[in-house]
Amino acid sequence: MEQPVLQTEVCKARTLEELVRLLHELFSGEKVDVAEVQALMESYDSAPEEWGSYAHFDQFRYTRNLVDKGNGKFNLMILCWGEGHGSSIHDHTDSHCFMKILQGNLKETLFAWPGKKGTGEMIKKSERVLKKNQCAYINDSIGLHRVENTSHTETAVSLHLYSPPFDSCHAFDQRTGHKQKVKMMFYSQFGGRTPCTTTVSQENN
Ligand code: SIN
Repeated sequence: MEQPVLQTEVCKARTLEELVRLLHELFSGEKVDVAEVQALMESYDSAPEEWGSYAHFDQFRYTRNLVDKGNGKFNLMILCWGEGHGSSIHDHTDSHCFMKILQGNLKETLFAWPGKKGTGEMIKKSERVLKKNQCAYINDSIGLHRVENTSHTETAVSLHLYSPPFDSCHAFDQRTGHKQKVKMMFYSQFGGRTPCTTTVSQENN
């Protein structure tokens, strides 16, 4: 006898505003359905006229621009990557991390956790290039990652959702595996430049 096919309903976000509203719904309960959030974020067709007002670039490093505080359940932010900009190898402070490409390409390199004392050169597990509208997912049990815009001619923009929100993580030295706690700041919030002069991101360049 034929088994009925179970289908999870995938909702589509037609605009950034609708994406934010649907994300609030998905995060209103206790549990996070990773596949559902990833599918929803992937369903949004990047429209620069909708996110452009959040996208602030810096000449020297990638920027973190807060879009929505998700009722305390998540932080949604737009990261702007100039040519050659990249992050350090970092963890995600026990949170879920969703990363959707809005413009350009980003290379994600996955690393294994180093041993307790740092074990020398860190072990690379995989690498891939994420393209416009793709949405990747990582958490600490999957490993650590570095994200880079390897292009010398094109900028890149990505939409990140972290749940629960966090404001510090660990950055790792690729050669030694040693880690350092780093505070994460916003370059802008809700479209307006953050009034603090020293905004630090854990960039590697
Ligand atoms: C990343 O995943 O590389 C971005 C880290 C950040 O949120 O600053």
